[in-house]
Amino acid sequence: MTTPASSGTKKRVFSGMQPSGEAHLGNYLGALRRWVQMQDDWDCVWCIVDEHAITAGGDPAELPGNVFDLAVSYLAVGLDPEKAIIFVQSDVPEHTELAWLFNAVTPVGDLERMTQFKDKAQRFESIPAGILNYPILQAADILLYKADAVPVGEDQKQHLELTRDIARKFNAAYGETFPETEPLIEEGVGRIMGLDGEAKMSKSLGNTVPVLAEPDEIWNRVRTAVTDPQRVRKSDPGRPDVCNVFTLHGFFSDVGTRADIDRRCRSAEIGCVDCKRILSDNIAAAFGPFRERAAEYHANPRLVREILDDGAERARAIAKQTMAEVRDRMGLDWRKATG
Ligand code: TRP
Repeated sequence: MTTPASSGTKKRVFSGMQPSGEAHLGNYLGALRRWVQMQDDWDCVWCIVDEHAITAGGDPAELPGNVFDLAVSYLAVGLDPEKAIIFVQSDVPEHTELAWLFNAVTPVGDLERMTQFKDKAQRFESIPAGILNYPILQAADILLYKADAVPVGEDQKQHLELTRDIARKFNAAYGETFPETEPLIEEGVGRIMGLDGEAKMSKSLGNTVPVLAEPDEIWNRVRTAVTDPQRVRKSDPGRPDVCNVFTLHGFFSDVGTRADIDRRCRSAEIGCVDCKRILSDNIAAAFGPFRERAAEYHANPRLVREILDDGAERARAIAKQTMAEVRDRMGLDWRKATG
């Protein structure tokens, strides 16, 4: 028995995000926006990777709420359970099972070479094995569904290469089983810089905007954004090409508005505060429907539960088939010896 690569004629994509609560602007621009767009043309599997999150050593008391909040964000921005499978990793134990089996074909040296591992490892005196093995679980996430492609950010490229290596090594050792999954890295988006203009947008650095923020809160965040550092006074001409606020306008403001701001910034006709006001208003308008949809889920958390339960069931149906195939290839069915 072999698992179909994907249902019907559509190719399959898998992607996931760690639950650290409500999604933020960086998650939206770097990932979710694109996931939403892919739902009509791809067979989509969207995961909340809570078992990856535990390697970061969060508070167990906060994890359930963080998963719920990320699920609401997923649904609010437009991930659609009618079009995609949306589920929580720990609901499908096959992820960790396959990760264990992939240990058999993954060189420790490859794991130690991962730049994310090297970065994270510095924070520990005694490095938990989960930090090292993190990419094996990621490979299992992807290959369990035989995903053709994975939309990810540039920072995940190395993990995707490792996933392909694992697939190749597994296939060589046990027979053709897994595809070599392609990373889909969006051109021209790159790293979304935080409002501090210094680091990648991240919730822990507080340099971003939650996707479900009210217009007031959006403004309170956006007004703190760092602009062209050389523009000290409003009368100084600005340089939109080096201004992170202008970059963000690229996602939320139309071509005409952008051209107008570009010209008036360079000629010092518009100041940074006014420019940020326009950005903030446009973000608030874009995020308005998300807030409305989130309110429905917050009023009815059972609905979220039903969606995730259903997603887990559908994910598991695929996962079970892959695992039956994998166990068979790896000789993990001793009953064969009994005839
Ligand atoms: N490592 C990814 C990140 O930090 C999250 C992740 C886990 C993932 N498993 C995945 C992403 C599978 C894509 C596919 O962003």
